[in-house]
Amino acid sequence: MERPIGIFDSGIGGLTVAHAISRILPNERFIYFGDTAHMPYGDKSKDAIQRYATAITKFLIANNCKAIVIACNTASAISYQFLRDKYKGIIPIINVIDPIIEATVADGTHKKIGLIATKTTVKSGVYQEKMTRRNPNIEMAVLAAPLLAPMIEEGFSEDKISHTVIENYLSNPIFKDIDALILGCTHYVLIKKEINEFFKGKVKLYDSTDIVALKMAEIFKREGILSPKKMGEHHFYVSDITDGFQESTTRFYGGNIRLELLKL
Ligand code: DGL
Repeated sequence: MERPIGIFDSGIGGLTVAHAISRILPNERFIYFGDTAHMPYGDKSKDAIQRYATAITKFLIANNCKAIVIACNTASAISYQFLRDKYKGIIPIINVIDPIIEATVADGTHKKIGLIATKTTVKSGVYQEKMTRRNPNIEMAVLAAPLLAPMIEEGFSEDKISHTVIENYLSNPIFKDIDALILGCTHYVLIKKEINEFFKGKVKLYDSTDIVALKMAEIFKREGILSPKKMGEHHFYVSDITDGFQESTTRFYGGNIRLELLKL
C-alpha cells in the first residue's frame, strides 16, 4: 500500500522510534509530527495530552496515513485507548507499550522487571496493568525518572553528570533483584550503554525502538498494508522550531534531517 505512516511524539525523542522504523521497514515513507510546542508531555494532564493527540491524529489522517504510531511512551500510556476507541475501524493505531510488554513476557525468564519512565507514564499505571493482564506472576518495580529526558535532550551522556543522575535513579532499592529493565521513554535508548554498564550487563534492557518497528512489520504484513516498493521522502514536522531542536535531531535520528514548522 503506497500510503505513508503517521508517527507522532511530544517532541524530537520519538525520532529514535522513527529511525528504527526507517531501518526495519525501508520501503515505507512516514510523516513525523513532534509536538515541540507542548513538550514535555511527561508532566501534562490526561486531558491536555488527549487533546493534543487527537489534533495530531486528525492531521495525520487528513494526510492520507495508513496507520498511526504513537512513538511517545507518555502519549501511549494516556491516549492509546482513547484514540483506539475514537478511530476504531478507521485506522490502525500502534503504541510503544504493548510490543515491549509482549517481548518481556515472551522472553519467559523474567521474574521481576523494572520500569523507568516519565511521571505521567508511571502515574498512569498502564505498564503495570498490561503486565498483570499478560503475566500476573511477573513483579514490577516502577520509578519516575523525570531528570533523564531533559538531561539527554541537553546532550549529557557518557559524562559525570549523566553517570550521577543514572546512578541515583537506578540504585533505588526497589530495583534490587530485577532481571530486566524497561526503558519506558523515547530518550532513554541514548543512554542504554551507560545503563547496561551500571548493571554490569546482568539486567536485560528493553527499549521501544526495534521491538516496535518489528511489531509494525508483523502487523502490516498481516493487514496487507506493507509498501511494495521504496516510497518518497519522509517529512518531519514540529509545532515549534528552534536551533536547539534542529541540532538535537542528529543525536535522536542518527542522521541529518530537516524539521518543518507546522502549527496545528
Ligand atoms: N516522549 C516522551 C516519552 O516517551 C518523553 C518526553 C516528554 O516528556 O515529552 O515519554
